[in-house]
Amino acid sequence: MSPVPVTITVNGTPTPAQVEPRTLLVQFLRDQLELTGTHIGCDTSQCGACTVSLNGEAVKSCTMFAVQADGMAVQTIEGIGSMDDLHPIQAAFWEQHGLQCGFCTPGMIMASAEIIRRNPDPSEDEIREQLGGNFCRCTGYHNIVRAISSAAAVMREKGAEAGQAADD
Ligand code: FES
Ligand code: FES
Repeated sequence: MSPVPVTITVNGTPTPAQVEPRTLLVQFLRDQLELTGTHIGCDTSQCGACTVSLNGEAVKSCTMFAVQADGMAVQTIEGIGSMDDLHPIQAAFWEQHGLQCGFCTPGMIMASAEIIRRNPDPSEDEIREQLGGNFCRCTGYHNIVRAISSAAAVMREKGAEAGQAADD
């Protein structure tokens, strides 16, 4: 099939491209844009390694075609923080040893952002339940859950500080 023109805003940059209709969003990100932080860990839409944010909500990027994201905004792990300025979730995974091989980590971090977006103070049970779509083959999840709790606390604190500064 002929390629189709799309413009997807990726990590804040409007990105025009030609994509084949059969191209999955994850393939577009990895193969056309070389954003290889988004991983492919299964072919059954179960593992969550491919999780990205689409218009602010977490999606498994292997479950949709790139053409379906035309006109939308995608954020990948490359866009959430930087080496010099880690996102609080990235910092928490580092500090709480929330990874071993790291393969699942980009998807875990994007899923964590969604968990905290939905509830800035999630309980351990909520975190475990909402992580149900993300598999880790290494860590046993305990430190991942700790990392998400810790990141949520840091983000609440930062939010309170920002609110205080706005009031001053
Ligand atoms: Fe998308 Fe596994 S690669 S869920
Ligand atoms: Fe290895 Fe999760 S850290 S799969």
